[in-house]
Amino acid sequence: MEELLQQIENYKLEIAAIEATTADAVEAFRIKYLGTKGLMKTVMGEMKNVPNEKKKEAGQILNDFKIFVEEKYNTLKENAQGTEESAADSSDWSLPGNPAIVGTRHPLNLVRSQIISIFQTLGFAVEEGPEIEDDWHNFGAMNLPEDHPARDMQDTFYINNAKAGEQSWLLRTHTSSVQARIMETQKPPIRVICPGRVYRNETISARAHCFFHQVEGLYIDENVSFADLKQTLYFFVQQMFGKDVKVRFRPSYFPFTEPSAEMDISCLICEGDGCNVCKHTGWVEILGSGMVHPKVLENFGIDSNKYTGFAFGMGVERITQLKYRVNDLRLYSQNDVRFLKQFTGVV
Ligand code: PHE
Repeated sequence: MEELLQQIENYKLEIAAIEATTADAVEAFRIKYLGTKGLMKTVMGEMKNVPNEKKKEAGQILNDFKIFVEEKYNTLKENAQGTEESAADSSDWSLPGNPAIVGTRHPLNLVRSQIISIFQTLGFAVEEGPEIEDDWHNFGAMNLPEDHPARDMQDTFYINNAKAGEQSWLLRTHTSSVQARIMETQKPPIRVICPGRVYRNETISARAHCFFHQVEGLYIDENVSFADLKQTLYFFVQQMFGKDVKVRFRPSYFPFTEPSAEMDISCLICEGDGCNVCKHTGWVEILGSGMVHPKVLENFGIDSNKYTGFAFGMGVERITQLKYRVNDLRLYSQNDVRFLKQFTGVV
């Protein structure tokens, strides 16, 4: 009996010192101490050798020992579970990282910035103005009186809030309205470009949209001539499309310029062979231009005997279409990332 008690004390010390961090080690502990052929079974078997008068005392001791071993087993099991879970949580720092998704600039924005920087190198300042305009700045001041047939060129969205006798409000149909505001507030020499969104009442199709973007330019000083206009626009085209592109001017009509001209460049899509973008002519129109009409200058108190000026206006969508061969205007506003992400890194 004394011997058995001594043995139990030794086992307790041994068991107390055991550490098991994995589920396998815990299971091995269970088999060794609590299994059907384990230590606990053997120790319990010793009961039969205990004299009867000591059986009660020995039973108590053996029971305590069993509880001790079972508690140890439960603690080991809990601890091992905890460490295995935290091992599963911990990250593998050698794995490759998730790539950061970098947004791309919208193609129209890229081209708009490029147009602006080309004119900035020539000393043009950037000016912006309101998209909701009054009739005077969009039309009247630009030599387009209310009953002028040229207003048909630009199908206009009017805003129905004008009171009787007041001029109407509208969504600007061109950024010439910004030029009007500049002439109203600045004295020559004036050298500005006006980028911005404009609106026209058009049915949306591959070739037309109810809103688009323009960059218009205005240069007023003494002795500004048509030659200056041509040279400035040649420079722009070469910077934008390269030295090989061909350019031609065609006489045209705008109420706010006289003389007026439209500028075409050789079609970059078919290189002059003829395609549906150039309507099989080999040429595409990219901008309108002309010498500022003396009446427009006088509308803003600028002496048309002393000053002359040129103006031009181009559509950013059209330039982008030619530069990146985009064949449908609607792509610009559909926000399809498959389209938009193609312009990554294009500057
Ligand atoms: N405002 C004209 C348009 O929107 C373009 C233009 C600007 C033409 C300046 C001549 C001079 O079509």
